[in-house]
Amino acid sequence: MENLKIAIGADHGGFRLKEKIIEYLREKNVEFKDFGTFDEESCNYPDIAKKVSLEVATGNFNKGILICGTGIGMSIVANKTKGIRAALCADTFSAKASRAHNNANILCLGQRVTGEGLALEILDTWLNSSFESGRHKTRVDMIEC
Ligand code: RB5
Repeated sequence: MENLKIAIGADHGGFRLKEKIIEYLREKNVEFKDFGTFDEESCNYPDIAKKVSLEVATGNFNKGILICGTGIGMSIVANKTKGIRAALCADTFSAKASRAHNNANILCLGQRVTGEGLALEILDTWLNSSFESGRHKTRVDMIEC
């Protein structure tokens, strides 16, 4: 997990899981910036998703984590930003494949769908998996064309 700089954000539906993930990132000494939200007051997930996506797309951060109730809203918004490949994952197989095959640069999680223990395993798998390149690079390159 060298040279990792993570932008993280959540809406009110993902706030509690964001705090758990931040604890995990601190324990692992991973550099990150929290783009909010900072409490469980209702807010709009597109605001947070756009901020984090822009930070990753412009290269200020090399990976992003977005959490809402289901992870669906965050992934829909994130994937509208050019250069973003956001993967909504609820299992470790998909988390690994999203890095290996899709070179996903944002991980989306759903606090109301995925329990904390599994969410942290998904995150760990995602952060420790690498892009396989080769035939997958050809396909990933086609996304932006
Ligand atoms: C908020 O209630 C909820 O709609 C949001 O967190 C997310 O699940 C949207 O996709």
